[in-house]
Amino acid sequence: MTDEKLIELLKSMSLSEKISQLVQLHGGYFGEARQLTGPEQQFNISGKRAYSIGSILGECGFEHLKSIQDGFIENQPHHIPAIFMADVIHGFRTIFPVPIAQGASFNPGLTQKIGSAAARECSSAGLHATFSPMVDLARDSRWGRCMEGTGEDPWLNSRFAESAVKGFQGDSCGESGKIAACAKHFAAYGSALAGRDYSSSELCERTLMEDYLPSYEAAVKAGVELVMTAFNTVDRIPCSINKKVMRKILREKMGFEGVLISDYNAIGETLAHGACADKSEAARRAMNCTVDIDMMSDCYLNHLEDEINSGRVDAKLLDEACLRILRLKNKLGLFENPYKDGSIENEKEYIYCDEFLKLSRTAAEETTILLKNNGILPLDTNKRIAIVGSLAASRKITGSWAIFAQEEHTVTLESALKELYADADITYICKDVITAEELLKISQCDAVIVAVGEDQSRSGEGKSVAETVISEEQSALLGLVASCNKNIVSIVFGGRPLCLSDVDEVSSAVIEAWLPGTCGAYAVADILFGRVNPSARVPMSFPYSTGQLPLCYSELPSGRPKPNEERYYPFMSNYMDVPNKPLYPFGHGLSYTRFEYSDVSLSSDVMKKGETITAEVTIKNTGDMDGFEPVQLYIHDVKASVSRPVRQLKGLQKPFIKADESLTVSFTIDEEMLKFYDEDMDFTAETGEFEVFIGGTSEAMNRTSFWLED
Ligand code: NOJ
Repeated sequence: MTDEKLIELLKSMSLSEKISQLVQLHGGYFGEARQLTGPEQQFNISGKRAYSIGSILGECGFEHLKSIQDGFIENQPHHIPAIFMADVIHGFRTIFPVPIAQGASFNPGLTQKIGSAAARECSSAGLHATFSPMVDLARDSRWGRCMEGTGEDPWLNSRFAESAVKGFQGDSCGESGKIAACAKHFAAYGSALAGRDYSSSELCERTLMEDYLPSYEAAVKAGVELVMTAFNTVDRIPCSINKKVMRKILREKMGFEGVLISDYNAIGETLAHGACADKSEAARRAMNCTVDIDMMSDCYLNHLEDEINSGRVDAKLLDEACLRILRLKNKLGLFENPYKDGSIENEKEYIYCDEFLKLSRTAAEETTILLKNNGILPLDTNKRIAIVGSLAASRKITGSWAIFAQEEHTVTLESALKELYADADITYICKDVITAEELLKISQCDAVIVAVGEDQSRSGEGKSVAETVISEEQSALLGLVASCNKNIVSIVFGGRPLCLSDVDEVSSAVIEAWLPGTCGAYAVADILFGRVNPSARVPMSFPYSTGQLPLCYSELPSGRPKPNEERYYPFMSNYMDVPNKPLYPFGHGLSYTRFEYSDVSLSSDVMKKGETITAEVTIKNTGDMDGFEPVQLYIHDVKASVSRPVRQLKGLQKPFIKADESLTVSFTIDEEMLKFYDEDMDFTAETGEFEVFIGGTSEAMNRTSFWLED
């Protein structure tokens, strides 16, 4: 449909029709209506009236969605179809490694592939849009939703945000097999105070702008169709009614023209925040903030009409919001084909198809991190091995958003090992409490694999914890095994960087498997036995102790920096009981081969503003296995008008280097990379010295420096 036609359509719609387009409900209001509970009953919308709203969340399956859509075509006065949206976060039925694991791949291209596969699979089941990617920066692993983001770094998160949008939407969400993406949760939801979900965000403006906002902006620049408001307050104002955040930053500064949707009942919750007196005020303020869709509150549904009739909300705002929603429907092609890619044939072709199952395995090969290895890995299939711990046999390793997955498809570590390494001498004791007899067997083995960590029920929305440690039962198991066998390989499952100091202490090797998805366990098995050379890196610092949180590598220098980590220094910025540094820092990860870096060389040690210089290193694979190496470029502004982080990631490449071969990797450094909010909040680069580090971790000491001049 042309835009003129859409505008004509808008003009012909009644006030209540327009308001209804701004309402999103879950599927319980449609077809054979399900039992509605609590506040949902007060919505007073059922039967035919429900078929006038703009969008539905959380339903899937072609036949089911077709019957709902047919109800819209029949009952909506202008036959306007609904948009079907759902949380397809890291896969629909085929589940891929959770987003924090994807962050660990240090390969944003992987996320594009995953997004593309997920879009294809879920669109075949009739979905049109996903509430993904979650691009919230997170530096506190007490927050269970750090599992849904790609970690602690603004630059890396931005690259993943763009890739996810490209994966889901392709060049246009209207294309075959593509869906509309939604960047969330705007803004700074990941900075929840003390890691407690839904608590407030207390950030200074500079930190908000420099660290927390870039990933949303990257998604907007990549053309994301929707943005979701966050539950939390920013500057003490709930996001859904925060004019500065929504109008000034999102719409004006970032130039977002797409559909802004609230989070689930977030407009309604502004009352509980104590920021709105009633739902009318909430509706009014959210409209003034250009929030187009009210997800699951009845503020718009039951209160907006009065606000408009009384002139308290400008009718123009309603027209603008409604038009943005109609435009999205039009981009998706729904006026021509309201089912889009949904069909029985497509469901048969794509759901759990071999290609996606294979991708769920190869993805995990890139997301599983080798955190520690004293040489015990890779394991030898000729040696006697035991595997212990209930997580080794658990199917709850896909992630809390695997809501559409069928668990029977999930491969466990136990079944992966049995299938791939049937000839190996492995004793399976996949439980957390073991007998004396089993302990004796364990003591006779050459190596013991111990599965610890958290299953998928321990991370995700509302899953905050005060202690980010393994369970007491798992600690006891690890202790018992360690008392009789020193050759421990710990496999850690979970959606957050746990505090692994105790695990590290008794283990010869530690592997972070995250929540690897449907077939990810195959990848973990292959890394254990060396068929796959690990290449993943830490995307969010692993603390020594929960007390160090929040934690990130790009901290500001203190006026009293700790001289070194060897001991505690009085009157310096340090802890008396634990180190300052994390156990495993950002960017850290091991390989089965060795990469040696040359010194960093620059094309010039002076860079004029507006010009560029090149930084180069040569990397040699001196081991005897081919492998990928995530080469990381960090920059430090030595002296500026405001204090600058000790270093910041500004570039990344992940070349494949064959054993005994060398490769030169170069990065272009430009002025944009050096900009920050100065004393007057101008975004600028200041002249002076900049240090450059290139290496395989955020702690790389391979450095040089240049001067930026006018
Ligand atoms: C609440 C969550 O915060 C959000 O991420 C999700 O997309 C919505 N619920 C819809 O399920």
